[in-house]
Amino acid sequence: MEKELEGLSGEIEAAVTAAKTREELETARVKYLGKKGALTAFFDKLGSLPKEEKPKAGALLNSLRKRSEALLAEKNEMLSTTGNSTTVDTTLPGRSINTGRYHPLTIISNESKEIFKSLNFQVIEGPEIESDFYNFEALNFPPHHPARDMQNSFHLGGNMLLRTHTSPVQVRTMEKQKPPLRMITIGKCYRSDASDQTHTPMFHQIEGLMVDEDINFGDLKGILKIFFSRLFEREVNIRFNPSYFPFTEPSVEVSFSCHVCGGTGCSVCKKTGWIEIGGAGMVDPNVFKSIGYDSEKWTGFAFGWGIERMAMIKYGINDIRLFPENDLRFLGQFE
Ligand code: FA5
Repeated sequence: MEKELEGLSGEIEAAVTAAKTREELETARVKYLGKKGALTAFFDKLGSLPKEEKPKAGALLNSLRKRSEALLAEKNEMLSTTGNSTTVDTTLPGRSINTGRYHPLTIISNESKEIFKSLNFQVIEGPEIESDFYNFEALNFPPHHPARDMQNSFHLGGNMLLRTHTSPVQVRTMEKQKPPLRMITIGKCYRSDASDQTHTPMFHQIEGLMVDEDINFGDLKGILKIFFSRLFEREVNIRFNPSYFPFTEPSVEVSFSCHVCGGTGCSVCKKTGWIEIGGAGMVDPNVFKSIGYDSEKWTGFAFGWGIERMAMIKYGINDIRLFPENDLRFLGQFE
């Protein structure tokens, strides 16, 4: 019997290995372990064996049955995970893969950098913790000047503060480089403004500066026209309205013709045909003086506004507070 069981053991193993589907595996199980199976038949013979042979034969049979059952279970598990057609539910929805996206402010910042780089502007970075000199004084805001109140500051003590705008980077760049120069900077700014639909205490600005001989308002208008036309992927016009900044003279408020209606008037531009974006102007000679440029020889323009404002206009977002909230349902919509 021992020899016969050895042969049967090899047979069972070969049949289990050969089974390619769960049906074939079930056929093998019935053939050997079913009611009329080959292994079951040996159990039936057990009763007719001499008394002294029974314990050994019984142990051998039990061990072969256990091994065979384990083999069948293992193969069954394998067939169900390797795509046997009877176990795959093809009606189940597929698993979605979450891909990372850029934050809308990063998208606008990157697009802006690319456009200005193509116009030969350098991209420069500056510190967020600034001295009163760079943030205000060198930009023609004398101490106690009322214009400082336009930018509620977070003071850090020792004449230092969180920068309220990106304009100090203009000054730092002019200190290091001789004209002619073209630069932009994009970065975080801080003002102790209460949060509302259009204000947050931390926000981002873009700042631009171009200095050369004979730079005038026409150059500023031309550069801004190219910039906004590329950003909004349609030709826009630029309009200047008089404004005031201590570091530019004359100063203007910049608007561009509505990128949605083209200037005919719609709900986005509140029927005016124009969208106001931010400030600009010709660099005040006092700023040139503070960094040692000859204001008789060099002229320049500067501009600056909120990155959040640009993103709100481009994507039709009506609340600035959505940007820092990091709600993936909001952030997942932009590319
Ligand atoms: C300035 O900060 C000037 N430095 C801009 C400038 C640069 C003018 C160069 C001329 C030449 P103003 O304070 O207006 O300007 O701010 C510019 C823009 O920053 C605003 O139009 C707005 O878009 C954004 N901004 C200001 N405060 C906040 C705030 N609390 N939250 C969100 N955005 C803000």
